[in-house]
Amino acid sequence: MSRASLAILSTENLLHNLQVIKAHAPNSRIIAMIKANAYGHGLRSTALRLAKYVYSLGVASIDEALALRRVGIKIPITLMEGVFEPDELLIAACENFHVVFHDQTQLQWLAKTSLPLPLTAWLKIDTGMGRLGFTLDQAPAAYEQLSSHPQIQQSIGLMSHFACADDIPHRLNQLQINHFNQFIQNKMGPKSLCNSAAIFAFADQHYDVIRPGIALYGVSPFMNVSAAALNLKPVMTLQTRLIAIKRIQKNETIGYDARFTCPDDMLIGVIAMGYGDGYPRTAQDGTPVLVNGVRCQLVGRISMDMMTVDLQAYPGAQVNDPVVLWGNGLPVEEVAQYTHQVPYDMLTAVQSRVKFHWTLYD
Ligand SMILES: Cc1ncc(COP(=O)(O)O)c(C=O)c1O
Repeated sequence: MSRASLAILSTENLLHNLQVIKAHAPNSRIIAMIKANAYGHGLRSTALRLAKYVYSLGVASIDEALALRRVGIKIPITLMEGVFEPDELLIAACENFHVVFHDQTQLQWLAKTSLPLPLTAWLKIDTGMGRLGFTLDQAPAAYEQLSSHPQIQQSIGLMSHFACADDIPHRLNQLQINHFNQFIQNKMGPKSLCNSAAIFAFADQHYDVIRPGIALYGVSPFMNVSAAALNLKPVMTLQTRLIAIKRIQKNETIGYDARFTCPDDMLIGVIAMGYGDGYPRTAQDGTPVLVNGVRCQLVGRISMDMMTVDLQAYPGAQVNDPVVLWGNGLPVEEVAQYTHQVPYDMLTAVQSRVKFHWTLYD
């Protein structure tokens, strides 16, 4: 039998989460954020499952967008960071990639380019995130430049991004909402402001297009609200098997750096999953895992290919028992609390040597 590290991906849960999101914003179209390999779930496979239910797919680069066209995805694909060099504008126009313009250099490239076909454009406004986008001072001129370009489709989309939507009372949220509302006054074209957290938190700011990412994958965007409370279900279950069981004597140590010293004679299980699979090396002693459905605790450092678990809670464990690291029965949000990480980086870190297996769909 080959190494058993496996990411089981639930089509049913992905589509369920999409329905939950749609129910929260019934009047908005959806750009499903599938950048970064669909948050670690697989770019193409995730896109193929979502494409017929959403308006567009959001990616970070033209390479990701072209990979989607190669597997037959026909819907618009949105380049969330726009183009990185002028020639990409030509490709975008031919391939119906919708392009975000967030700085002056991109507009200069556009001004010098003769496009083969009209291009759909979004203008990104920095309302307080301090990352991509035109400031409120620069935005009117940028909007003018885009609007007056003969090969840009009218009407231009207007987009901004929250910095703190997961922290609902944060003062920046209202400020960003005010800035966005101020800028969009009297402007035609689709508007878009909300990521996952904002979709749940700010129902009156959904506008024409919402941009869910993490919620699609069944993860709560909030620290203090569970995915279950939002009716989201995990898409990825990361699992493997026990490959050895050992009796370790009191006062002996486990693993690299001898981080864990056994307080008693202990039954220790060895699990075929490590940081080489993308499991966080930062996981502390006590991090939960499910051995055959029974909650046990990690002890000792995570190795490249293995980790070790205290089997006191499950003395009946057998070699080859299934182990869930996160997903069904063990939310990744909960595991994250033991790792100094967040679900976003944990999910995107899962490596290609883990076998990906999607459940069937119609
Ligand atoms: C511009 C933009 N919109 C939407 C999203 C989706 O965010 P989330 O995964 O929090 O829903 C992201 C993700 O980083 C983003 O950069």
